[in-house]
Amino acid sequence: MQSLPDFDLVLFGGTGDLAMRKLLPALYRRVAANQVSKGSRIIGAARSGLTRDEYLSQVEESCRKHIGKDFDREQWEQFARSVEYVKIDAQAERDFMALKKLLAGREECVRVFFLSTAPDLFAGICEGLAKADVVTPASRVVLEKPLGQDLQSSVQINERVGAMFSEPQIFRIDHYLGKEAVQNLLALRFGNMLFEPLWRRGRVQHVQITVAEDLGVERRAQFYDQTGALRDMVQNHLLQLLCIIAMEPPATGDPDAMRDEKLKVLRALRPLRGHDVQTKTVRGQYKAGAANGAPVVGYLDEKDVPRDSTTETFVALKVEIDSWRWAGVPFYLRTGKRLQERQSEIVITFEDVPHSIYERPDDAHAWNRLVIQLQPVESITLSVLAKSPGHGMRLKPVELSLDFRETFKDRPLDAYERLLTDVIKGTLTLFMRRDELDAAWAWIDPIREAWQHYEERPKAYTAGTWGPAAASALVSRDGFSWRNEL
Ligand code: BG6
Repeated sequence: MQSLPDFDLVLFGGTGDLAMRKLLPALYRRVAANQVSKGSRIIGAARSGLTRDEYLSQVEESCRKHIGKDFDREQWEQFARSVEYVKIDAQAERDFMALKKLLAGREECVRVFFLSTAPDLFAGICEGLAKADVVTPASRVVLEKPLGQDLQSSVQINERVGAMFSEPQIFRIDHYLGKEAVQNLLALRFGNMLFEPLWRRGRVQHVQITVAEDLGVERRAQFYDQTGALRDMVQNHLLQLLCIIAMEPPATGDPDAMRDEKLKVLRALRPLRGHDVQTKTVRGQYKAGAANGAPVVGYLDEKDVPRDSTTETFVALKVEIDSWRWAGVPFYLRTGKRLQERQSEIVITFEDVPHSIYERPDDAHAWNRLVIQLQPVESITLSVLAKSPGHGMRLKPVELSLDFRETFKDRPLDAYERLLTDVIKGTLTLFMRRDELDAAWAWIDPIREAWQHYEERPKAYTAGTWGPAAASALVSRDGFSWRNEL
């Protein structure tokens, strides 16, 4: 494994949920894997006036919880030696001086400023860093999603951040691109010849992308109610997955080669606006029901949610791509909270044979399908027809399956482990370029505007189900079904 160059990683929002749940455990694991040099430092930055020890005890508690049985005292101590804490109020210029002092004399090593804060603080933090004169040529800034609320706010943030950091220094993170199964989708498409001739209209009948969560809004209701599923999940994670499936093979492994191809997909998405939004989108909001066998409250009764909120916790969309490769092939996207189970998958259904000399099985949809499962387990399954043993040609669907955990015994990297090491190495491939983000927002904004225009409330669905019935109708109108409904 390649060891990383010496770095200082400053984690703004260092006491927040993402830092504690994902980022610090991911860094712990990289230290435990001996990938981090002894001279590297992880500097938590937040508004609370904590001492280093107080901060470390919060980090330890969280690492113990999230690392589980792999947590190791000795490795923890090694990790803890690299952790510092600095109190910074993003709006207080003088607070940045404490950071400057901490970073002094280490201008040569890689500097990462990870902004895991609300997006309206991004520009101010970057300006604070620039004023404190801590932005070196070897500095990078990482921006967590959502980057803004719409195209206009995203453009403003990007302009202001762009005044302090050049585009190759800006890492816009989408953790879905760091998932092992997504990397494997790239390997499957561009490491094999087998699928390429089939990867197009005439061969692919339709595509489904589902990111289903059984969790509700948890403790993030304030954020979530301002955001909703379209901006929290579709604008970034689901569109990025769609790009990886639909893009043309990049000419090289160069970051911009891949980002150019993703951008072309985003620009080829057929706009959904006005009346189309009524027929090709479904938005839902969960009402009381059950999760994992226990009763749960509806969205409107969650703490910090206004009782008349119209924020969507579920979205389903029919998306079309106006390109030679994909014209006429529907892509159905669906995501939601408090659904029946946690399940994320991409399902590519191929056309059936034009003429069959054998009797077809009754189960009309269980073959000709490639399923790339991202969650809860990462696997790739190809369903084909095979002959049933015995006399006569009786065909039966069977699965050719690759379970990553079974096949590769090594623990796959968590998405944030991979993406954080990519930032430190300076590899931009799995991060969104500014024009990609603009194109994604430009496609998303009219959907929200039309929802507001028609003023319909989101459709209610019972927690613990697969969302509103209208989402099933969206695909059944075209003669298909979601895979879980087959
Ligand atoms: C985040 C969203 O980006 O992704 C959350 O803000 C969501 O609302 C999460 O729960 C899902 O990520 P994962 O990796 O658990 O599927």
